[in-house]
Amino acid sequence: MTVKATFVTADGERATAEMASGDNLLAAGQAIGMPLEGTCEGQMACSTCHVIVAAQWFSKLTPASEEEEDMLDLATSVEPTSRLACQIDMCEELDGLEVRVPADAHDMRLG
Ligand code: FES
Repeated sequence: MTVKATFVTADGERATAEMASGDNLLAAGQAIGMPLEGTCEGQMACSTCHVIVAAQWFSKLTPASEEEEDMLDLATSVEPTSRLACQIDMCEELDGLEVRVPADAHDMRLG
């Protein structure tokens, strides 16, 4: 089935991506032109895919792994509902998910 996720940019613009259930959130955001670099391509080594999940959706996500938490500790503009988009695979339960794209991302690989 097709599921949707809405991205809200730092400027407040909203863009909705449609994707198949099972697709990755980072790839879906990139496909509609969101400024999510995803430099490490999902290897949890860059944090440039950092998004802030709308509070009402946060508890519906599979909890972050320790590696993801460690990477988020190093990201900028982190909030309690921050996640790495590369670690979120969409599913029926997440249809309608809303995330914010922070204004700045820091590629940990660049130091
Ligand atoms: Fe690098 Fe997600 S793409 S941590």
